[in-house]
Amino acid sequence: MKEAMIIGTAGFTAALSVLRLEENNLTPGQGSVLVTGATGGVGSFAVSILSKLGYSVEASTGKESEHGYLKEIGAATIVSREDVYDGKLRALGKQKWSGAVDPVGGEPLASVLSQIKYGGAVAVSGLTAGTSLPATVFPFILRGVNLLGIDSVNCPMDTRLKVWHRLATDFKLEHLEQLVQQEITIEELPDVLPTLLKGEARGRTIVKL
Ligand SMILES: NC(=O)c1ccc[n+]([C@@H]2O[C@H](COP(=O)([O-])OP(=O)(O)OC[C@H]3O[C@@H](n4cnc5c(N)ncnc54)[C@H](OP(=O)(O)O)[C@@H]3O)[C@@H](O)[C@H]2O)c1
Repeated sequence: MKEAMIIGTAGFTAALSVLRLEENNLTPGQGSVLVTGATGGVGSFAVSILSKLGYSVEASTGKESEHGYLKEIGAATIVSREDVYDGKLRALGKQKWSGAVDPVGGEPLASVLSQIKYGGAVAVSGLTAGTSLPATVFPFILRGVNLLGIDSVNCPMDTRLKVWHRLATDFKLEHLEQLVQQEITIEELPDVLPTLLKGEARGRTIVKL
């Protein structure tokens, strides 16, 4: 039960993102895969699973203090949020990543799309940087890039079974406990929730009932 709670919605969402990228023919030989919001729940699981599968993971984070953590869970390289999005949106940029897991959304997602390699894809699940997507059609019509929507809430049962099966087999992480920042009681939640909302938390927080 504890393992299932450590994985939770975030781990499930990361695993579904990897599954969708595989369906878009992503393989480890195609170059590095970007994970945005890498120290978050979805991000931490995406870094760990992709690294376990042999991908070279480029982890983007706003937390300089967590570079060591990201290396430990499998990131090959670590970049800043500004390396992914420098505040200037371009229709097309240098082709950097074969794919991306993006729980961040917003303007950074538009920037990621413009830097995906020909035929690559971005699995988008979140909105921590915003809900609007000021992208152009060029990555899609000139590079065949795909934007893959990830929804864990109404995901059909056959897909759920596939995702949990992978989480229990080849996606299974030996270092699951490393992704847990803290275990708290329900009474401690009001103190902890603001750090989550400010994007300052790392990995997963387990509530012990
Ligand atoms: N589609 C679905 O079914 C589904 C399922 C689960 C979660 N979600 C969504 O996915 C997102 C991530 O969930 P989570 O559980 O991983 O949350 P989380 O643990 O709070 O992680 C979010 C991470 O995003 C980064 N971040 C925060 N503010 C940012 C900003 N303004 N610009 C760029 N990066 C920022 C931070 O990572 P760094 O400091 O490392 O950059 C933060 O740790 C949320 O929006 C959540 O609602 C969707």
